[in-house]
Amino acid sequence: MIFNSAAQKDRFLPNVRAAKHNVDVGLRINPEHSEGEVEKYDPCAPCSRLGFPVSQLSAEVLTGVNGIHMHTLCEQEFEPLQRTWNAVKDKLAPYFDQLKWINFGGGHHITREDYDREALIAFIKDVRAETGLEVYLEPGEAVALDAGILIGEVLDLPKNGVDLAIVDISATCHMPDVIEAPYRPAMLGEAKEGHKYRLGGPSCLAGDVIGDYTRAEPLQIGDRFAFLDQAHYSMVKTNTFNGVPLPTIALWNSESDELKIIREFSYNDFLNRLS
Ligand SMILES: Cc1ncc(COP(=O)(O)O)c(C=O)c1O
Repeated sequence: MIFNSAAQKDRFLPNVRAAKHNVDVGLRINPEHSEGEVEKYDPCAPCSRLGFPVSQLSAEVLTGVNGIHMHTLCEQEFEPLQRTWNAVKDKLAPYFDQLKWINFGGGHHITREDYDREALIAFIKDVRAETGLEVYLEPGEAVALDAGILIGEVLDLPKNGVDLAIVDISATCHMPDVIEAPYRPAMLGEAKEGHKYRLGGPSCLAGDVIGDYTRAEPLQIGDRFAFLDQAHYSMVKTNTFNGVPLPTIALWNSESDELKIIREFSYNDFLNRLS
């Protein structure tokens, strides 16, 4: 059980012990070492609420704690992990004897082709040898990287300064990271040159804009298209703002072309959540 502050740990530790479960107790630290490019995605950004600042660690703070957790990376390669460890190692060293494990959180893009997995393996072995601690990683996104597509349909093709395409995919409802990060999702088969459209969702939010995309052929109402790499954070972050329907979840077998519907959502899912 990992706590985000010393006070939280002190408040709940008696309950944990009273329950007589054999639970390890961890403290999430804030290494105060930024590797994130975007502040919103950087748990070490100034005044962050995520993790107990490593500069405030003391024997008292770590009373009852046998694991250290940190999560500071976001879609990153190996080197930022190494630099983060270099930044905290000496500050944690006085406590290695009382600890059992160290957890380096998520944000490691370990399934990406260019990730230096050999360096990661050597790093984990080194940390284990140097500290005597068990090492955990908890990658999320990397598990499902490039594993799913989100299919949309063109609903209308108005013009206003540019060629617009209103589609049944909403940035704010189905791909909120497009607005939050922000980022531009890759489209399957996007052309380098051709007909350019500004794609936007059906919600009332003026900023529900997915981005500008180029198609080899002019779009027609009813045309379908797909955004790539949408299985991880898109699926868990969907919402029904404005009553925009949730996408159906389906499994497609690329060898047999079989399509299996896993879950379909209806108006009742939206209605029942609200009343
Ligand atoms: C504590 C913690 N661990 C692991 C993860 C997974 O991160 P990712 O999906 O970037 O690998 C997150 C995501 O925010 C997290 O907050």
